[in-house]
Amino acid sequence: MSMFRLLVAGLFVALAFDTATAIADDSPHLGKPISEVDIKRWDITVLPDGSNLPPGSGTAAQGAKLYVDKGCSLCHGENGKGGPNPTLVGNPSLTADGIASPKTIANFWAWPTTLFDYIRRAMPWHAPQTLSDDEVYALCAYLFAANNLIPVNEEMNAQTLPKVNMPNHDNFIIKFPDRI
Ligand code: HEC
Repeated sequence: MSMFRLLVAGLFVALAFDTATAIADDSPHLGKPISEVDIKRWDITVLPDGSNLPPGSGTAAQGAKLYVDKGCSLCHGENGKGGPNPTLVGNPSLTADGIASPKTIANFWAWPTTLFDYIRRAMPWHAPQTLSDDEVYALCAYLFAANNLIPVNEEMNAQTLPKVNMPNHDNFIIKFPDRI
């Protein structure tokens, strides 16, 4: 590269840098830096291995009461079956009715941790993200116990919940296991 070209290239780099700085300096300075508390309200994703599960705990007995008090039974049926919205309790065949076979927590869900994430994020349908972490643990305990996936007196917390054995877990085939 000739000296002239090098100089021109250098000039462009310098100009680009100056422009970027100028934009930052000229910005209207709208908004304010996000606080840790605000980030925490969004940082609610629980990974399959249980990473990011919050402190807290709950039992099936507490969950059974919450299931009624928080209105879950109105949409999902009295004992997790027979309501207008998805069945939460029961393990019907996943294949008997082909694609129309009902998918439930016990016959389909691959990871127990998804149940915690889902309920905390999305339920109850009319008032999502209003449950405390203890309440979500209790509702998970209730639904796992009702599906015979844990003993009825086993407490759910950040250590026990990821260990719940999901019947359909091994039927999820990960195409690139070395990439996760
Ligand atoms: C007003 C009705 C309503 C209420 C109340 C409600 N849900 Fe739901 N729930 C739904 C609907 C609708 C879906 C399906 C959402 C979808 O597929 O996008 C759903 C889905 C779910 C699922 C996923 C089921 C699956 O296998 O896909 C779970 C778990 C669940 N709800 C738990 C709860 C719990 C626990 C409560 C009480 C705290 C609750 N829901 C209250 C309407 C409701």
